[in-house]
Amino acid sequence: MYNFTYSVPTRIHFGKGQISHLNELRESGEKVLLCYGGGSIKKNGIYDDAMKIMKDAGLTVFELSGVEPNPRIETVRKGVEMCRAEGIDMVLAIGGGSSIDCAKVIAAGAVYDGDAWDLVLNPSLIKGALPIYSVLTLSATGSEMDTFAVISDMSKNEKWGTGSPFMTPKMSVLDPTYTYTVSRKQTAAGTADMMSHTFENYFHHEKGSDVQERFAEGILKTCIKYGPAALDQPDNYDARANLMWAGSHAINGLIANGCQPAWCVHPMEHELSAFYDITHGEGLAILTPVWMEHVLNEGNKAIFAAYGRNVWDLTGEDDMAVAKEAITKTREFFFETMGMPANLKAVGINDETHFEVMAEKAAKGSVGSFEPLSKEDIVEIYRAALG
Ligand code: NZQ
Ligand code: ZN
Repeated sequence: MYNFTYSVPTRIHFGKGQISHLNELRESGEKVLLCYGGGSIKKNGIYDDAMKIMKDAGLTVFELSGVEPNPRIETVRKGVEMCRAEGIDMVLAIGGGSSIDCAKVIAAGAVYDGDAWDLVLNPSLIKGALPIYSVLTLSATGSEMDTFAVISDMSKNEKWGTGSPFMTPKMSVLDPTYTYTVSRKQTAAGTADMMSHTFENYFHHEKGSDVQERFAEGILKTCIKYGPAALDQPDNYDARANLMWAGSHAINGLIANGCQPAWCVHPMEHELSAFYDITHGEGLAILTPVWMEHVLNEGNKAIFAAYGRNVWDLTGEDDMAVAKEAITKTREFFFETMGMPANLKAVGINDETHFEVMAEKAAKGSVGSFEPLSKEDIVEIYRAALG
């Protein structure tokens, strides 16, 4: 196990009604910039509850609405301007990963003397941020408890992740009932996203990190159990609660520290989103089984077989056979059990037009991953995923 520092200072208030803790924002001042998306929080009533609690706590709220899924740098810039113009003390996101990511880069951009896009391209420029808070409404990205944010500049077909301890939320409210209204599509995509975060950390060659691997397998088994349960019964509290807590731990360092390889399916997916604006979790589900098949070899078959035995309860002596069955199970889970689009054509990507340029960028972003991936490997993976 490699050396690491584990520090997740986010205070989590988990469970029904925990939004009452929004009065704690007073610890950071008085003026709040509230970031949210296209209106789901107004339809399901979270907005009204949050506004009342903040008003009663004596907070003044400024609003930035319309944060896009795959949030855009233009929206971040707008938020930074508001922070500067109004002397904002803190940023609160209510929503999924897009609203939280947008809030994070606004908070960092507000104290940076330059354009916020610099901070997306070069995380080392992030030297501080306004305090960040979140109320999570979609279980997926783990942004509520991690250091990362992903922002797009669609005019350049660019989508990049950035990260800094300064962007870790100070406090997040995780109320599973807030995810009852999440659509089937987004529930499935969110489950695939947290599974992908787990896979990115789980598939590594470091020996002796058993505790991280067993945690990872537990997260995967939880997603496999409760993802379909949440689809069948959107207001199943246990399903929504388990997915919510699994999503936070898939990416907050718990299973990554000590064994962390560079991620590779995410860089490949971010290119799909950058060029075609697709839903992140759907892109990951499409690429994951194809990537698994592409990299499986004699040298790593035991790792895939362990995945098959410990997550899918597969039996059998032959590692390669178990590994292949585990990949089949993964594919069936995403595309049959969870009903997700099974290939790129199903999400509107019909030809190879951008594969070369996308693969070149993704190859740079995945140096040091579980198995090395050249630009040519990635083009092959995209082609196999086309359908
Ligand atoms: O915009 P609204 O109206 O709120 O609707 C959203 C949006 O249309 C809707 N939604 C959210 N909560 C809802 C709800 N609808 C009904 N009821 C609710 N309770 O769901 C749609 C998708 O929301 P979004 O925030 O875009 O989804 P997600 O949480 O999956 O975030 C995706 C973004 O996060 C990035 C992705 O790349 C993508 O840009 N990621 C962030 C990471 C991080 N910060 O660590 C890591 C991830 O790997 C990922 O890259
Ligand atoms: Zn992800």
